[in-house]
Order: sequence, then C-alpha cells, then structure tokens
Amino acid sequence: MTNIGVSIIGSGSAIPEISLDNQQLSQIVETSDEWISSRTGISKRQLVNTTESLCSLATQASRAALGQASILPKDIDLIILATSTPDDLFGTACKIQWELGAEKAVAFDITVACSGFLFALVTGSQFIRNGVYQNVLLIGADILSRWIDWEDRRTCVLFGDGAGAVVLQASESDRLLGFELRSDGSQNSCLSLSYQPQEKKIIEGVTVTQGTYQPIAMNGKEVYRFVVQKVPEAIEKALFKANIDVDKLDWLLLHQANQRILDAVASRLNIPSQKVISNLQNYGNTSAASIPLALDEAVRKGMVNSGDIIAASGFGAGLSWGAVIFQWN
Ligand code: ACO
Repeated sequence: MTNIGVSIIGSGSAIPEISLDNQQLSQIVETSDEWISSRTGISKRQLVNTTESLCSLATQASRAALGQASILPKDIDLIILATSTPDDLFGTACKIQWELGAEKAVAFDITVACSGFLFALVTGSQFIRNGVYQNVLLIGADILSRWIDWEDRRTCVLFGDGAGAVVLQASESDRLLGFELRSDGSQNSCLSLSYQPQEKKIIEGVTVTQGTYQPIAMNGKEVYRFVVQKVPEAIEKALFKANIDVDKLDWLLLHQANQRILDAVASRLNIPSQKVISNLQNYGNTSAASIPLALDEAVRKGMVNSGDIIAASGFGAGLSWGAVIFQWN
C-alpha cells in the first residue's frame, strides 16, 4: 500500500464584533492596563454580541478556509470542531455542517480545551492517512466569555472569543511531519469549567443531580509552571519524530495564552523572537481558536509562506498539551 500524506491547504478565521480593551476592564474589576499588558501582553479582546453564536463564528471561519483552499463544501468528507463552549452540549459540528451545505461530511465535536485544535489536527490526519477521507475541515472555536466570572480579575482579563479553521487534504508528499500529544489528569483541578451538581428528588427514593457549569477557575501559577516545563519537551519530541533540527524551523506557533509563556518557551528552545507568531495582544486567549486564528493571520499577512516549517503547540485544561510539526501548504 502506498503511503498517503497530509497537507494543510487553506486557513480562515472569524473575529466577533465587540472589542473590550484593558482600560474598559479596569472599570469592571480592580485592574489596570499596565498590570494586564506587562503580565500577559494582552491589550484588548473581542467578544461575541447577542446575535453571534459558536455556530455562526465557526461557519464564517470555515467558509474563509474553504475559499482559500478552493474546496467546495460538498467535497468535505469530515468536519471536526474543537470547542469547550458549544452552543449545544450534544455538539455543534452537525449544525455547522448543515450551515455550510457540506451534506456528505461526517461531523463531530471534540473537547480538549486550549489543546483542542492540535488534537483535532492529529485526529483528522489519521482519517486521511488510512485512506478513508480526502478532505477534512478542522475548526477551533470558543466563546469563553460565556463562562467567565466577570468579577474575577485573575481570569476575566485573559480570555477572548474567536474561531479559526483549516482544510486538510490527502496528498502525495506528507507535510504533517511529526507530533506528540500528552495528557495528565492528576493536575485536572488547576484549570476547570466544571459542572456543579445540585440534588433534586424527582420521586420518593430517586434523587438525581441537576446543576450548572461554574465559571472558569484557574491556578495561574501552576499552569504557567506546567506549560514552561512541558511544552518545550513536547516540541522537542515532535521535532525528533519529524527528524528536524530546531534551527530548521521557520515559525513557532504556540497557543496564544500569554506573551511571557511564548517568550519563555522560545527561549528554552533557543528560537529567536522574530520566529515566534504572536497576535494575543489583540485577542487574548481564545482557547481552541487561538492557533488557527494566529496561523490564518500570519498566512494572510504574507508572513507564513508555502514550504515554511512550523512547530505548533497547544496546552491547557486537562491538563493536556501537544505539538505538531508541519510544512505549510
Ligand atoms: N489586575 C491586577 N492585579 C491582579 C490581577 C489583575 N487582573 N490578577 C491578579 N492580580 C494580583 C493578585 O491578586 C496578586 O496580588 P497579591 O500579591 O496582592 O496577592 C498579584 O496580582 C500577583 O498574582 P499572581 O496570580 O501571582 O500573578 P502572576 O504573576 O502569576 O500572573 C497570570 C498571573 C498572568 C495568570 C500567570 O500566572 C499566567 O500567565 N499563568 C498561565 C495562565 C494561562 O496561560 N492559562 C491559560 C491556559 S489555557 C486553557 O486551557 C484555558
């Protein structure tokens, strides 16, 4: 059997309407532009308005990616939506499939928080490698503003909403060069958006639990420590599997959580700052959207060009983290 390769042939993104800058945040909680900018690198974030939804953002990003890839919706075989904030807990991918008119496509959601897009990229590529599907649409989208405690200054300054998408296609030469995915549930409580059950007696002897999700809770220091240690290791392992030296990388594309994390990871890997893609200043941490959103901007600005080798790494709740080495286009 001949080996089937995977190429990423197009990207797209969607940014919601409302802009909220650090100055405005300082009217909501006790914080300042100086604190947020110096500790995180974030200046503003975009938030969905009351008419936008996860489905509408994801569909917009998908249309842009399909346009760049010159692929018609009817030719998509599989849609994977990485999100922790679906419009519907049963999943939102099927609705996107319908909105796009991608009737043939199988569609499902996956949830791996800020690592979601990377995990979706590796998952989608397996369906191509084993010869089942030709064209796969991957979407990373999140509306974390729905689940932020807007009175908690430790978290509300960090996050924003957005969506990004890429199209994978079967190809003769393989441009997905190596990957490493990891999980560590022992640190699960460091970062959570967890269900809080409330007991409800429905009949004598039968008590069920019905509750709701609690806002995002995070131990920022622990998450920072974990990322700065684990992410460089994962990138090194993925580079080893790809048989590529770190100095051959054109770009480092990290989950856009915090500029200090980007700088620390790049420094540990001896990657110069001009190779580090960063757009978190304008969007904050958009969770599963951040990697495809930053990639799409870099591609459309002409920074990332055909043949460039990129190390992408996602990390976040789970705890989960991973790295993928790929060649653009
Ligand atoms: N404005 C002003 N002061 C603040 C704010 C704020 N927004 N937030 C916290 N502070 C205060 C704290 O109360 C504390 O005050 P104290 O010393 O009087 O108690 C002080 O600033 C320092 O707080 P720390 O939490 O120690 O601040 P730190 O330097 O660690 O920075 C940060 C916090 C930016 C969150 C950092 O820990 C970080 O980047 N962690 C990684 C977080 C991350 O990337 N999470 C996303 C993972 S992705 C996902 O899956 C969702």
